Amino acid sequence: MLVLGIESSCDETGAAIVDDTGRVLSDIVQSQISLHAPYGGVIPELASRDHLRNAGPVVREALAKAGVPWDGIDGIAVTNRPGLVGALLVGVQMAKGLAWARGLPLVGVDHLVGHLLAVFLRRSDEAEAAPEFPFVALLASGGHTAIYRVDGPSAPLVRELGGTRDDAAGEAFDKVGKLLGLGYPGGPVIDRLAKSGNPKGVPFTLPMGHSKSFELSFSGIKTQVAARVREHGIPKTEAELADICASFQAAVTSVLASKLVAAAVMEGVRTVVIGGGVAANGELRARVSALAAERGLRAVLPELASCTDNAAMIAYAGLVRLQQGERDGWDLVATNATSLPRETRKGRGAR
Ligand code: KG4
Ligand code: ZN
Repeated sequence: MLVLGIESSCDETGAAIVDDTGRVLSDIVQSQISLHAPYGGVIPELASRDHLRNAGPVVREALAKAGVPWDGIDGIAVTNRPGLVGALLVGVQMAKGLAWARGLPLVGVDHLVGHLLAVFLRRSDEAEAAPEFPFVALLASGGHTAIYRVDGPSAPLVRELGGTRDDAAGEAFDKVGKLLGLGYPGGPVIDRLAKSGNPKGVPFTLPMGHSKSFELSFSGIKTQVAARVREHGIPKTEAELADICASFQAAVTSVLASKLVAAAVMEGVRTVVIGGGVAANGELRARVSALAAERGLRAVLPELASCTDNAAMIAYAGLVRLQQGERDGWDLVATNATSLPRETRKGRGAR
Protein backbone atom coordinates (compact mmCIF):
# COMPACT_ATOMS: atom_id res chain seq x y z
CA MET A 1 0.00 0.00 0.00
CA LEU A 2 1.32 3.48 -0.90
CA VAL A 3 -0.03 6.62 0.75
CA LEU A 4 0.52 10.28 -0.13
CA GLY A 5 0.82 12.42 3.00
CA ILE A 6 0.36 16.19 3.13
CA GLU A 7 1.49 18.43 6.02
CA SER A 8 0.85 22.17 6.46
CA SER A 9 0.12 22.65 10.18
CA CYS A 10 2.77 25.27 10.97
CA ASP A 11 5.76 26.56 9.00
CA GLU A 12 6.64 23.58 6.80
CA THR A 13 4.79 22.56 3.64
CA GLY A 14 5.36 18.85 3.12
CA ALA A 15 4.35 15.99 0.84
CA ALA A 16 5.63 12.43 1.08
CA ILE A 17 5.00 8.91 -0.13
CA VAL A 18 5.35 6.01 2.31
CA ASP A 19 4.64 2.28 2.06
CA ASP A 20 3.15 -0.09 4.64
CA THR A 21 6.57 -1.13 5.96
CA GLY A 22 7.29 2.53 6.84
CA ARG A 23 9.72 2.92 3.94
CA VAL A 24 9.91 6.54 2.81
CA LEU A 25 9.86 6.68 -1.00
CA SER A 26 9.97 10.48 -1.03
CA ASP A 27 9.66 13.25 1.55
CA ILE A 28 9.63 16.85 0.36
CA VAL A 29 9.76 19.61 2.99
CA GLN A 30 9.53 23.24 1.93
CA SER A 31 10.56 25.20 5.01
CA GLN A 32 9.30 28.72 5.72
CA ILE A 33 12.00 29.41 8.32
CA SER A 34 13.60 32.28 6.39
CA LEU A 35 10.15 33.86 5.84
CA HIS A 36 9.41 34.01 9.59
CA ALA A 37 12.96 34.47 10.91
CA PRO A 38 12.86 38.30 10.95
CA TYR A 39 9.85 38.14 13.34
CA GLY A 40 11.36 35.58 15.74
CA GLY A 41 8.32 33.30 15.38
CA VAL A 42 5.67 32.06 12.99
CA ILE A 43 3.27 34.67 11.59
CA PRO A 44 0.06 32.73 10.81
CA GLU A 45 -1.13 34.83 7.86
CA LEU A 46 2.26 34.63 6.13
CA ALA A 47 2.35 30.88 6.79
CA SER A 48 -1.04 30.28 5.11
CA ARG A 49 -0.11 32.26 2.04
CA ASP A 50 3.20 30.46 1.65
CA HIS A 51 1.53 27.03 2.03
CA LEU A 52 -0.80 28.04 -0.78
CA ARG A 53 2.18 28.80 -3.03
CA ASN A 54 4.03 25.59 -2.13
CA ALA A 55 1.36 22.90 -1.75
CA GLY A 56 1.02 22.07 -5.46
CA PRO A 57 4.76 21.97 -6.19
CA VAL A 58 5.62 19.77 -3.17
CA VAL A 59 2.98 17.18 -4.09
CA ARG A 60 4.22 17.07 -7.69
CA GLU A 61 7.81 16.73 -6.48
CA ALA A 62 6.95 13.95 -4.01
CA LEU A 63 5.32 11.89 -6.79
CA ALA A 64 8.17 12.56 -9.22
CA LYS A 65 10.91 11.72 -6.70
CA ALA A 66 9.20 8.46 -5.68
CA GLY A 67 8.68 7.64 -9.37
CA VAL A 68 5.09 6.64 -8.59
CA PRO A 69 2.23 7.45 -11.00
CA TRP A 70 -1.12 8.59 -9.57
CA ASP A 71 -2.66 5.15 -10.12
CA GLY A 72 0.02 3.68 -7.84
CA ILE A 73 -1.28 5.71 -4.87
CA ASP A 74 -3.85 3.98 -2.62
CA GLY A 75 -4.93 6.86 -0.40
CA ILE A 76 -4.31 10.42 0.80
CA ALA A 77 -3.53 11.41 4.40
CA VAL A 78 -3.51 15.01 5.56
CA THR A 79 -2.76 16.76 8.85
CA ASN A 80 -6.06 18.31 9.96
CA ARG A 81 -5.20 19.00 13.65
CA PRO A 82 -3.76 20.60 15.76
CA GLY A 83 -2.06 23.63 14.27
CA LEU A 84 -2.63 27.08 12.81
CA VAL A 85 -6.10 26.72 11.35
CA GLY A 86 -5.46 28.90 8.29
CA ALA A 87 -2.32 26.88 7.56
CA LEU A 88 -4.05 23.52 8.10
CA LEU A 89 -6.89 24.55 5.76
CA VAL A 90 -4.51 24.79 2.81
CA GLY A 91 -3.37 21.17 3.18
CA VAL A 92 -6.85 19.88 3.97
CA GLN A 93 -8.43 21.55 0.91
CA MET A 94 -5.57 20.37 -1.30
CA ALA A 95 -6.03 16.80 -0.04
CA LYS A 96 -9.80 16.91 -0.58
CA GLY A 97 -9.36 18.21 -4.12
CA LEU A 98 -6.83 15.52 -5.00
CA ALA A 99 -8.89 12.74 -3.38
CA TRP A 100 -11.97 13.83 -5.33
CA ALA A 101 -10.13 14.24 -8.63
CA ARG A 102 -8.30 10.91 -8.34
CA GLY A 103 -11.11 8.93 -6.68
CA LEU A 104 -8.91 8.07 -3.69
CA PRO A 105 -9.83 7.54 -0.01
CA LEU A 106 -9.00 10.43 2.33
CA VAL A 107 -8.04 10.40 6.02
CA GLY A 108 -7.24 13.25 8.40
CA VAL A 109 -4.28 12.78 10.74
CA ASP A 110 -3.56 14.29 14.14
CA HIS A 111 -0.11 15.90 13.83
CA LEU A 112 0.81 14.66 17.33
CA VAL A 113 0.01 11.05 16.38
CA GLY A 114 2.25 11.61 13.34
CA HIS A 115 5.13 12.64 15.63
CA LEU A 116 4.50 9.64 17.92
CA LEU A 117 4.63 7.21 14.96
CA ALA A 118 7.61 8.86 13.20
CA VAL A 119 9.80 6.20 14.79
CA PHE A 120 8.24 3.63 12.40
CA LEU A 121 9.64 5.41 9.32
CA ARG A 122 12.64 3.94 7.50
CA ARG A 123 14.63 6.36 5.38
CA SER A 124 17.88 4.39 5.24
CA ASP A 125 19.39 1.10 6.32
CA GLU A 126 20.57 2.87 9.49
CA ALA A 127 16.97 3.20 10.76
CA GLU A 128 16.43 1.21 13.96
CA ALA A 129 13.98 -1.71 13.99
CA ALA A 130 10.49 -0.43 14.81
CA PRO A 131 9.36 -0.53 18.46
CA GLU A 132 6.69 -2.93 19.70
CA PHE A 133 3.55 -1.70 21.47
CA PRO A 134 3.12 -0.69 24.20
CA PHE A 135 5.78 1.98 24.55
CA VAL A 136 6.12 5.22 26.49
CA ALA A 137 6.90 8.23 24.30
CA LEU A 138 8.18 11.71 24.88
CA LEU A 139 6.81 14.16 22.31
CA ALA A 140 8.76 17.42 22.45
CA SER A 141 8.21 19.95 19.70
CA GLY A 142 7.76 23.69 19.25
CA GLY A 143 4.08 23.59 20.18
CA HIS A 144 3.69 20.53 22.45
CA THR A 145 5.56 18.66 25.13
CA ALA A 146 4.10 15.63 26.88
CA ILE A 147 4.79 12.03 27.86
CA TYR A 148 2.36 9.40 26.55
CA ARG A 149 1.68 5.73 27.01
CA VAL A 150 1.11 4.38 23.49
CA ASP A 151 -0.74 1.03 23.29
CA GLY A 152 -1.35 1.12 19.55
CA PRO A 153 -1.01 3.31 16.46
CA SER A 154 -4.12 5.49 16.78
CA ALA A 155 -5.39 8.29 19.01
CA PRO A 156 -7.77 6.19 21.19
CA LEU A 157 -4.81 4.00 22.18
CA VAL A 158 -2.67 6.92 23.35
CA ARG A 159 -2.89 8.24 26.95
CA GLU A 160 -1.12 11.33 28.23
CA LEU A 161 0.78 10.69 31.47
CA GLY A 162 1.91 14.27 31.99
CA GLY A 163 2.88 17.34 30.04
CA THR A 164 4.03 20.91 30.20
CA ARG A 165 1.99 23.34 32.24
CA ASP A 166 3.28 26.31 30.23
CA ASP A 167 5.74 26.49 27.33
CA ALA A 168 6.69 23.58 25.09
CA ALA A 169 10.33 22.47 25.27
CA GLY A 170 11.00 23.63 21.69
CA GLU A 171 9.41 26.97 22.49
CA ALA A 172 11.88 27.34 25.39
CA PHE A 173 14.81 26.57 23.06
CA ASP A 174 13.48 29.15 20.59
CA LYS A 175 12.88 31.84 23.22
CA VAL A 176 16.30 31.33 24.77
CA GLY A 177 17.83 31.45 21.27
CA LYS A 178 16.06 34.76 20.66
CA LEU A 179 17.24 36.17 24.04
CA LEU A 180 20.83 35.21 23.20
CA GLY A 181 20.58 36.75 19.73
CA LEU A 182 20.93 33.39 17.97
CA GLY A 183 18.03 33.83 15.53
CA TYR A 184 15.07 31.53 14.87
CA PRO A 185 14.68 28.62 15.47
CA GLY A 186 17.03 28.47 18.45
CA GLY A 187 17.01 24.69 19.00
CA PRO A 188 19.52 23.57 16.35
CA VAL A 189 21.91 26.50 17.12
CA ILE A 190 21.85 25.88 20.88
CA ASP A 191 22.42 22.16 20.20
CA ARG A 192 25.55 23.05 18.19
CA LEU A 193 26.94 25.72 20.55
CA ALA A 194 26.33 23.57 23.66
CA LYS A 195 28.85 21.00 22.40
CA SER A 196 31.77 23.25 23.34
CA GLY A 197 30.25 24.65 26.58
CA ASN A 198 30.40 23.69 30.23
CA PRO A 199 27.01 22.21 31.25
CA LYS A 200 27.72 23.17 34.87
CA GLY A 201 28.74 26.73 33.92
CA VAL A 202 25.42 28.32 34.96
CA PRO A 203 23.21 26.84 37.70
CA PHE A 204 19.82 26.80 35.89
CA THR A 205 16.97 24.91 37.53
CA LEU A 206 13.73 23.58 36.15
CA PRO A 207 10.48 23.94 38.11
CA MET A 208 8.98 20.49 38.74
CA GLY A 209 12.25 18.96 37.56
CA HIS A 210 12.55 16.87 40.70
CA SER A 211 8.86 16.25 41.35
CA LYS A 212 7.67 12.66 41.10
CA SER A 213 4.86 13.58 38.67
CA PHE A 214 5.30 13.66 34.90
CA GLU A 215 4.22 17.28 34.69
CA LEU A 216 6.77 19.65 33.17
CA SER A 217 7.40 23.39 33.06
CA PHE A 218 9.78 25.38 30.88
CA SER A 219 8.81 29.02 31.31
CA GLY A 220 10.88 29.41 34.53
CA ILE A 221 14.19 28.55 32.90
CA LYS A 222 13.46 30.99 30.09
CA THR A 223 12.94 33.67 32.75
CA GLN A 224 16.27 32.72 34.37
CA VAL A 225 18.04 33.21 31.03
CA ALA A 226 16.20 36.52 30.48
CA ALA A 227 17.22 37.76 33.96
CA ARG A 228 20.83 36.83 33.29
CA VAL A 229 20.85 38.66 29.95
CA ARG A 230 19.23 41.70 31.60
CA GLU A 231 21.94 41.73 34.25
CA HIS A 232 25.04 40.88 32.19
CA GLY A 233 23.93 41.61 28.60
CA ILE A 234 24.24 39.13 25.71
CA PRO A 235 27.47 37.12 26.22
CA LYS A 236 30.38 38.78 24.47
CA THR A 237 32.57 35.72 24.11
CA GLU A 238 31.84 32.43 22.31
CA ALA A 239 32.92 30.56 25.44
CA GLU A 240 30.39 32.31 27.69
CA LEU A 241 27.63 31.82 25.10
CA ALA A 242 28.52 28.14 24.84
CA ASP A 243 28.37 27.75 28.65
CA ILE A 244 24.87 29.25 28.83
CA CYS A 245 23.68 27.04 25.94
CA ALA A 246 25.25 23.93 27.48
CA SER A 247 23.81 24.66 30.94
CA PHE A 248 20.33 25.42 29.60
CA GLN A 249 20.33 22.34 27.38
CA ALA A 250 21.61 20.06 30.15
CA ALA A 251 18.85 21.24 32.51
CA VAL A 252 16.09 20.71 29.94
CA THR A 253 17.29 17.39 28.49
CA SER A 254 18.08 15.78 31.84
CA VAL A 255 14.53 16.40 33.09
CA LEU A 256 12.95 15.21 29.83
CA ALA A 257 15.03 12.02 29.72
CA SER A 258 14.61 11.14 33.39
CA LYS A 259 10.83 11.70 33.39
CA LEU A 260 10.43 9.63 30.21
CA VAL A 261 12.35 6.70 31.67
CA ALA A 262 10.61 7.01 35.07
CA ALA A 263 7.23 6.95 33.30
CA ALA A 264 8.13 3.74 31.45
CA VAL A 265 9.28 2.11 34.70
CA MET A 266 6.05 3.16 36.45
CA GLU A 267 3.94 1.83 33.57
CA GLY A 268 5.90 -1.43 33.45
CA VAL A 269 6.66 -0.82 29.77
CA ARG A 270 9.97 -2.01 28.28
CA THR A 271 10.40 0.46 25.41
CA VAL A 272 10.82 4.24 25.25
CA VAL A 273 10.50 6.40 22.14
CA ILE A 274 10.98 10.10 21.41
CA GLY A 275 9.48 12.34 18.74
CA GLY A 276 9.06 15.98 17.68
CA GLY A 277 11.66 18.57 16.69
CA VAL A 278 13.46 18.49 20.06
CA ALA A 279 14.02 14.73 19.56
CA ALA A 280 16.68 15.81 17.04
CA ASN A 281 18.72 17.23 19.94
CA GLY A 282 22.01 15.35 20.31
CA GLU A 283 22.17 15.57 24.09
CA LEU A 284 18.55 14.45 24.57
CA ARG A 285 19.19 11.44 22.31
CA ALA A 286 22.34 10.50 24.23
CA ARG A 287 20.68 10.90 27.64
CA VAL A 288 17.59 8.87 26.67
CA SER A 289 19.76 6.04 25.28
CA ALA A 290 22.02 5.99 28.35
CA LEU A 291 19.24 6.19 30.97
CA ALA A 292 17.14 3.56 29.19
CA ALA A 293 20.12 1.20 29.03
CA GLU A 294 20.74 1.75 32.76
CA ARG A 295 17.17 0.65 33.52
CA GLY A 296 17.25 -2.28 31.06
CA LEU A 297 14.83 -0.59 28.64
CA ARG A 298 15.02 -0.36 24.86
CA ALA A 299 15.20 3.20 23.49
CA VAL A 300 14.11 3.65 19.87
CA LEU A 301 15.09 7.00 18.36
CA PRO A 302 13.68 8.25 15.04
CA GLU A 303 16.10 9.25 12.29
CA LEU A 304 16.84 12.99 12.43
CA ALA A 305 14.72 13.90 9.39
CA SER A 306 11.74 12.16 11.00
CA CYS A 307 11.88 14.35 14.15
CA THR A 308 11.09 17.80 12.78
CA ASP A 309 7.86 18.42 10.88
CA ASN A 310 7.52 16.24 7.79
CA ALA A 311 4.77 14.67 5.70
CA ALA A 312 6.19 11.11 5.84
CA MET A 313 5.02 10.70 9.46
CA ILE A 314 1.57 11.94 8.38
CA ALA A 315 1.48 9.50 5.46
CA TYR A 316 2.38 6.63 7.81
CA ALA A 317 -0.18 7.55 10.50
CA GLY A 318 -2.81 7.90 7.75
CA LEU A 319 -1.80 4.56 6.24
CA VAL A 320 -2.52 2.87 9.58
CA ARG A 321 -6.01 4.43 9.61
CA LEU A 322 -6.65 3.40 6.00
CA GLN A 323 -5.53 -0.18 6.74
CA GLN A 324 -8.10 -0.27 9.54
CA GLY A 325 -10.77 0.63 6.98
CA GLU A 326 -11.20 4.17 8.28
CA ARG A 327 -12.19 6.99 5.90
CA ASP A 328 -13.01 10.67 6.29
CA GLY A 329 -15.59 12.52 4.22
CA TRP A 330 -15.74 15.95 2.58
CA ASP A 331 -16.77 17.33 5.96
CA LEU A 332 -13.21 16.81 7.33
CA VAL A 333 -12.38 20.01 9.22
CA ALA A 334 -9.18 21.77 10.23
CA THR A 335 -9.02 22.44 13.98
CA ASN A 336 -6.53 23.58 16.58
CA ALA A 337 -7.59 20.82 19.02
CA THR A 338 -5.72 17.54 19.20
CA SER A 339 -7.69 14.28 19.26
CA LEU A 340 -5.44 12.98 22.06
CA PRO A 341 -7.06 12.91 25.48
CA ARG A 342 -6.11 15.34 28.30
CA GLU A 343 -4.77 17.98 25.99
CA THR A 344 -4.99 21.45 27.44
CA ARG A 345 -1.92 22.95 25.81
CA LYS A 346 -2.10 26.30 24.12
CA GLY A 347 -1.97 26.61 20.35
CA ARG A 348 1.05 27.17 18.18
CA GLY A 349 1.94 30.37 16.42
CA ALA A 350 4.16 33.40 16.88
CA ARG A 351 5.91 33.08 20.19
O1 KG4 B 1 8.25 19.20 15.50
P1 KG4 B 1 8.68 20.53 15.00
O2 KG4 B 1 9.43 20.58 13.69
O3 KG4 B 1 7.48 21.50 14.85
C1 KG4 B 1 6.39 21.53 15.73
O4 KG4 B 1 5.51 20.65 15.61
O5 KG4 B 1 6.43 22.43 16.61
O6 KG4 B 1 9.56 21.18 16.17
C2 KG4 B 1 10.17 22.42 16.01
C3 KG4 B 1 10.92 22.72 17.30
C4 KG4 B 1 11.52 24.12 17.33
O7 KG4 B 1 11.17 24.70 18.57
C5 KG4 B 1 13.01 23.88 17.22
O8 KG4 B 1 13.80 24.84 17.87
C6 KG4 B 1 13.14 22.52 17.87
O9 KG4 B 1 12.01 21.79 17.45
N1 KG4 B 1 14.37 21.82 17.44
C7 KG4 B 1 15.38 21.51 18.29
C8 KG4 B 1 16.40 20.90 17.49
N2 KG4 B 1 15.94 20.85 16.20
C9 KG4 B 1 14.69 21.42 16.19
N3 KG4 B 1 15.51 21.71 19.61
C10 KG4 B 1 16.67 21.30 20.18
N4 KG4 B 1 17.68 20.72 19.50
C11 KG4 B 1 17.59 20.50 18.17
N5 KG4 B 1 18.58 19.92 17.50
ZN1 ZN C 1 5.40 19.10 14.73
